[in-house]
Amino acid sequence: MTLSDIIYLRCVDCKKTLKVLERDLEETVVINALLQCMSCGRHFPIIDKVGIFFKKDFALDYLLPNEIKKIQECHYDVVLKELPPSTSGNPEPQFNGFNTYDHYWEQVQVFEEEDFLKNDYTSRELFKRFIPINFEDFQEKTIFIACGGGGRDTYHVLQYNPKKVFIVEITSALYRYNKLFPKNMDKLVLLRGDLRFLPIQNNVADISICDHALQHVQNHKIGFKSLAETTKPKGSIGICVYSYENNLLMTHLIEPLKGLLIKIPRSILRLLSLFPAMGIWLIIHLIYMPLNKILPDLSKNLFLNEHMIFWSKLSLKSIWAACYDLMTAPVSYHFKKSELEEIAFSHSLQIIKLVNTHSTTWSMICER
Ligand SMILES: C[S@@+](CC[C@H](N)C(=O)[O-])C[C@H]1O[C@@H](n2cnc3c(N)ncnc32)[C@H](O)[C@@H]1O
Repeated sequence: MTLSDIIYLRCVDCKKTLKVLERDLEETVVINALLQCMSCGRHFPIIDKVGIFFKKDFALDYLLPNEIKKIQECHYDVVLKELPPSTSGNPEPQFNGFNTYDHYWEQVQVFEEEDFLKNDYTSRELFKRFIPINFEDFQEKTIFIACGGGGRDTYHVLQYNPKKVFIVEITSALYRYNKLFPKNMDKLVLLRGDLRFLPIQNNVADISICDHALQHVQNHKIGFKSLAETTKPKGSIGICVYSYENNLLMTHLIEPLKGLLIKIPRSILRLLSLFPAMGIWLIIHLIYMPLNKILPDLSKNLFLNEHMIFWSKLSLKSIWAACYDLMTAPVSYHFKKSELEEIAFSHSLQIIKLVNTHSTTWSMICER
């Protein structure tokens, strides 16, 4: 993030503009800074190139020990002093979701740059299938990536030379972006925060993307509203979400079991998730793949055939991570096609594409 990007940011409590009180730069890139809301006076820190923007009432729950230490080292103590005490055991499902994904990006799925070149879940080909938008249009445009996670979306967007990329993500995964994208830190505006309470002004992005994430936002309608408002008129919005259709195993088995699953210690659940992953991998390679070769027409009618063919391109490691993700995400919504049409309609968006990708997710492209 550079100093000139601050005008596009806003206070998450009162939505007013921010001013810079203190800053520490590395050439044009802001490393640390202290910002203040020009209306309510609240302070927000930028630490190690990541802006931290949580609503006042919950901010201390979401701040991590390392961040608190760094805020103190930078003498931005005012940030902490004006916050109410932590609610210890924040009851919001979104808070559980944050904890689960923070662990996921730190322990389960830690991406290195070379992972994005593999023919796996991280590939450009799959990202383009999930978000079927013309990627050439990213050139010289401002892109908003909602819920950027481990950096997969950002990597692929950066290949098309955008002008700026705003990324909002609730976990601390953003601190790894400096290592993943060292040459692009002037282009990236890294914002640790909640999509529901966005620190970005309205009408900033030419194109907004939210891949495999809106289903994990506690109130997806508010999450989508944030996406729509951040996008300029005539701009595009691309999302990919779990579909309700064809997802019987998830909606009628895994989701009802989740209440129990999330009580199991993470390390044990991680181990347990290896069993369905190995089972799925074997079924794919011993049944689905040969049958699709021998009897392609008949195989089309097999249960979840399209999805299994999609997963046949994934390594066992990726299937394992996916199974763990599917079993643990505390907030996980499955969208009906009609709900997506309704959500687009409610923001007066024109649906350009709405396709059931791999028969288990909906990919929707809208124009504002
Ligand atoms: C399945 S991951 C997808 C990440 C990335 N888009 C990708 O496809 O690789 C979902 C991400 O959404 C993030 N997330 C969930 N709720 C969020 C919220 N309310 N605000 C910001 N990020 C959120 C999670 O932390 C997680 O990184």
